[in-house]
Amino acid sequence: MSYKKYKPYGSINIKNRNWPDKQIEKAPIWCSVDLRDGNQSLPIPMNVDEKVKLFKLLVDIGFKEIEVGFPSASNTEYQFLRHLIDKDLIPYDVTVQVLTQSREHLIKKTFESLKGAKKAIVHLYNSTSILQRRVVFNKSKQEIIDIGVTGAKLLMEYKNKYPETDFSFEYSPESFTGTELEYSLEICEAILDVWKPTPAKKVILNLPSTVEMATPNIYADQIEWFCMNIKNRESVLISLHTHNDRGTSTAASELGILAGADRVEGTLFGNGERTGNLDIMAMALNMHVQGINPELNFSKLYEIAAVYEDCTKMKVHERHPYAGKLVYTAFSGSHQDAIKKGFKANHDSNSNFWEVPYLPIDPHDVGREYEEIIRINSQSGKGGAAFIMENEFGFVLPKSMQNDFGTLVKNQTDLLGTGLSSIQIYDLFKSEYLNIKSPNLLKSYTIQSVQNVETDENIVNIQALISVSGKVMNISGVGNGPVDAFFNALHGSNINGYNFISYDEHALGSGSNSKAATYIQIEYNGQRYFGVGVSSNIDTSSLNALFSAINRKS
Ligand code: KIV
Ligand code: ZN
Repeated sequence: MSYKKYKPYGSINIKNRNWPDKQIEKAPIWCSVDLRDGNQSLPIPMNVDEKVKLFKLLVDIGFKEIEVGFPSASNTEYQFLRHLIDKDLIPYDVTVQVLTQSREHLIKKTFESLKGAKKAIVHLYNSTSILQRRVVFNKSKQEIIDIGVTGAKLLMEYKNKYPETDFSFEYSPESFTGTELEYSLEICEAILDVWKPTPAKKVILNLPSTVEMATPNIYADQIEWFCMNIKNRESVLISLHTHNDRGTSTAASELGILAGADRVEGTLFGNGERTGNLDIMAMALNMHVQGINPELNFSKLYEIAAVYEDCTKMKVHERHPYAGKLVYTAFSGSHQDAIKKGFKANHDSNSNFWEVPYLPIDPHDVGREYEEIIRINSQSGKGGAAFIMENEFGFVLPKSMQNDFGTLVKNQTDLLGTGLSSIQIYDLFKSEYLNIKSPNLLKSYTIQSVQNVETDENIVNIQALISVSGKVMNISGVGNGPVDAFFNALHGSNINGYNFISYDEHALGSGSNSKAATYIQIEYNGQRYFGVGVSSNIDTSSLNALFSAINRKS
């Protein structure tokens, strides 16, 4: 009954909402808060070197607005910002953003920390929620507005002391999702009255889902309502800042964009307080796979994740959207089969569009490799092992053989209790089928071929030196091809009682030094056996395949 101690969030009173009919059409203004919100949530916050490294990564990805810290709250953050400015590490098209509370000594220090910066966004916040007003501040609505307005006035005052910097301002009614909508509007408009934005010099109003308290459609309703009602909408940039308490921060930000927001704050891989901030990487790549330019570059996602892990000491989960190690790995046989068919269809159709089942994104777009797509386990079925053999090693197993090999793979995975890697699959194939030389061995052979052009008949004579369980013998035979002749020659040895069932062959590799791969199936006492031969000589390849099949039976 513990659920009874929670109240439902309720709905937003908004008529004729528009966002459900909208689509995302372009990237928002992105702002990374990795170095502030992300950093403040780390068990061990980053040092200056780590922050510099992460800042460079964010610049490389393409962020044009980066919240670099809370310089009045920590010496490391102050030193880091000074380092960026003094060493001229901020590219001309990147604006750094800093957070401050509405208290004069903090605002003063914040402006000092920015001295010499060409451009900066100063981000002022105070908490406005019903709960915090009651239990944290014990203040009235008007007193909370006064805190914000006092800070807004101080920002105007200090800005004038640093005329060399082009300042912009941002205000967050912190815990917006726990605040009455009308009251959020009231406090934001009070701040606008102080800052007096214009379309040419806009102010950012950031509406944080500080704690995610409801379904994402509710957040979208709140954003649309706010956009509809805020005065001077054309002089304001509406910014989203979602946290992930209910696991829907990405959905909330996406719907918030539909609802009219212009800007999005978040972090790489969703690092942030508690369950994290919005994962900007996921939201950007969600746009990418809708054919929209996200204006952030995640084409080296593996490397990005490595730098992120190194700086933050956090781990990217193996199943993290787009970035996890296992995201491009299919374990189920039916998935593998569908992926295999999808690759082929995509390739054959020459289409410009990516359409492969179970792979919403081409792994190459984020620097991942096709080799990683499939690993085989006992659920993989015959298609998976055959796919690996063809795509990674060039062996095109005949259809009739795929089942045989699939069963071997399944038995092996059952035995080991784990999945098999591509190399393990190849090793199994090799030890089971390929050029098997024991107990019977083909040592050498000569072939004489007579072609009767009139009848179009081919007569092949073969003489071979073989070793049968250690006993060396010469054999000879005649047939209409090398395999037939050799098969007949074997009747003179102890290797008897086999029926020939099927023969398949293809080139392995391309060019003049390509080899031949041959697959032969024989039958003995009602049981069927496959063997595979590989050689630069097609006849040797066939004879090796035949011996391999015979040896497998033995
Ligand atoms: O989550 C939040 O509300 C914040 C604010 C400071 C914007 O991080
Ligand atoms: Zn936050």
